[in-house]
Amino acid sequence: MTGAPNRESLIDKFGRTIDYVRISITDRCDFRCVYCMSEDMQFLPRNEILTLEELGVIGKTFVEMGVKKIRLTGGEPLVRQNCIKLIQELGALKDLEELAITTNGSQLEKLAPEIKNAGVKRINISLDSLLPEKFKSLTRTGNLHQVLRGIEAARSVGFERIKINSVILKNRNEKEVIPLTKFAIANGLDITFIEEMPLGVIDSHDRAEVYYSSDKIKGDLETVFTLSATNESTGGPAKYFKLPDSTTRIGFISPHSHNFCGDCNRVRVTVEGRLLLCLGQEHSIDLREIVRKWPGRTDPLKTAIKKSMSIKPEGHTFDLNEQPIIFRHMSHTGG
Ligand code: GTP
Ligand code: 5AD
Ligand code: SF4
Repeated sequence: MTGAPNRESLIDKFGRTIDYVRISITDRCDFRCVYCMSEDMQFLPRNEILTLEELGVIGKTFVEMGVKKIRLTGGEPLVRQNCIKLIQELGALKDLEELAITTNGSQLEKLAPEIKNAGVKRINISLDSLLPEKFKSLTRTGNLHQVLRGIEAARSVGFERIKINSVILKNRNEKEVIPLTKFAIANGLDITFIEEMPLGVIDSHDRAEVYYSSDKIKGDLETVFTLSATNESTGGPAKYFKLPDSTTRIGFISPHSHNFCGDCNRVRVTVEGRLLLCLGQEHSIDLREIVRKWPGRTDPLKTAIKKSMSIKPEGHTFDLNEQPIIFRHMSHTGG
């Protein structure tokens, strides 16, 4: 990415430039993925969540501070009513180089054309299995065929790039890595395999027992495919490999086995307006108070955001063998 002249930039105390913001626009979701949520989840009441207008002001403020990439997450971002309005507003920010979305795919059949028209070029879609029963058992409420139709809709509107995200758990879906990769290749998609992270207390499995490392996944893939390392980056934490005769990139997101915190370029905002400086720590500041005290104004937000750089932690301290130290579920942050 190239820096525009005369724009501020956000640099933390470890010298890392922050130019990527992930904004969670709802904590709700129509799925209940076993690694993300417990079966019984309490969602935030309406008055605690930011309005679309407030989210828009926060997004615009970050862009004025040098942020080049915004990714909308959830919960499931596309179940938020009128989310398209926010996507259009952010998509029109001229200094924003990339607006992206991470979705479970359930609403794409309906929304893909509007999302594309709003200026979103890349979209990441979660898919952990191609077997309907297994997909159901991992998402609890998801329907594989609905998601596959969503992926097809996204392909047919012509996003520049679509990436599949697969969280791999031992004895649950590790046998899916080869079929998922074949699916990605056949459909011209990228795919990343993700090590599960211990966020929030979950009830379906012991996270240490199901740990399946990126190196194991890579070994499994190499029984069938020839992978070659590349320095290509999407600005996120994935390390990518290429295949001969295919545009598909295979990525690994390995918070446990290959820590990537040293290259961190991102912060996230929860739908309650909490600016979280690290996914795996609690350091945060409250932007909701500011955006509600000075509606529509960017200066007070800028002062607070700038100051927050001094408390961005060096990295996460995930330990699969301990009780999670972060009680917020992934659905509350969007990853
Ligand atoms: P790209 O723009 O395609 O690189 O997206 P991304 O990988 O940044 O985002 P996506 O929403 O697809 O997230 C994929 C996985 O990466 C999820 O499991 C996220 O939780 C994880 N992830 C993203 N950023 C961070 C981070 O800063 N720390 C950790 N530990 N995991 C992260
Ligand atoms: N660990 C790793 N990835 C997770 N995701 C959700 N929960 C977890 C977790 N505990 C993934 C989803 C989605 C992305 C936003 O984060 O599968 O692709
Ligand atoms: Fe919903 Fe995504 Fe969490 Fe699954 S991982 S429950 S799709 S927010």
